Amino acid sequence: MRQFSNALVLGAHGGIGGALADLLEASGAQVVRISRKDQDFDITCEQNIADVMSGMGDTPYDLVFNATGFLHGDGIMPEKTLRQLSKEALTKNFETNAIGPALLLKQLSLTMPRSHEFVAVSLSARVGSISDNKLGGWYSYRSAKAAQNQLIRSAAIEFRRTHPKAILLALHPGTVASALSEPFAKSGLRVRPPQQAAQEIHSVLQALTFDDHGRFVDHDGKDIPW
Ligand SMILES: NC(=O)c1ccc[n+]([C@@H]2O[C@H](COP(=O)([O-])OP(=O)(O)OC[C@H]3O[C@@H](n4cnc5c(N)ncnc54)[C@H](OP(=O)(O)O)[C@@H]3O)[C@@H](O)[C@H]2O)c1
Repeated sequence: MRQFSNALVLGAHGGIGGALADLLEASGAQVVRISRKDQDFDITCEQNIADVMSGMGDTPYDLVFNATGFLHGDGIMPEKTLRQLSKEALTKNFETNAIGPALLLKQLSLTMPRSHEFVAVSLSARVGSISDNKLGGWYSYRSAKAAQNQLIRSAAIEFRRTHPKAILLALHPGTVASALSEPFAKSGLRVRPPQQAAQEIHSVLQALTFDDHGRFVDHDGKDIPW
């Protein structure tokens, strides 16, 4: 079973990021927690990401976990119909849910030693699956997460060549009680506390092998169709 000793959690003030950072620490890992609240860290700013990675020191991270993400806020809500679509919502969603994670992948490729074994996970969402899209709506969020998935998939192919011991993953955490999901929590949905989600995600991470590189999985480690 994989044990993590030196982890980086981006979005560590969020529901899932915070719970996973706590759990990693409780299991003995050193955890660097990065968040907007504590360091004014912005996942959409490449310089911010580069600064975080340059602070890595002599022991490279064995886990980089991106728990940032955007669904609603600043007057933006997921769209029920095309009539609600706006450039602002598309831009905000793509910046946070796709461009930021892509810039993180770029910085990982630049800063991680090529022979180092590490896991890099970015939280995606099942609604980003194109083939699983039966309901429509949520245009900006869905398409931004789908873009993130494609970016991870492509990066996984490149990393296989440049960093053969890297395991990149897009992970759907399931429905989790957090600020992000709060407006959409409704009866019938299996909403889990962040601590439970963190336990499940941790189990998935501990079981990872090189064969899992480049997958899109849920919190049980099951494949989600792209
Ligand atoms: N909760 C769910 O049911 C669910 C389901 C599927 C996928 N996900 C995904 O899981 C991830 C974590 O969500 P969560 O439920 O833990 O929500 P959350 O509690 O709202 O956490 C998201 C975190 O992202 C941070 N963030 C947003 N924009 C940022 C930016 N530009 N730069 C840096 N940090 C930024 C937020 O910072 P602030 O604290 O400063 O706002 C927040 O701490 C997201 O990617 C989400 O799409 C969640």
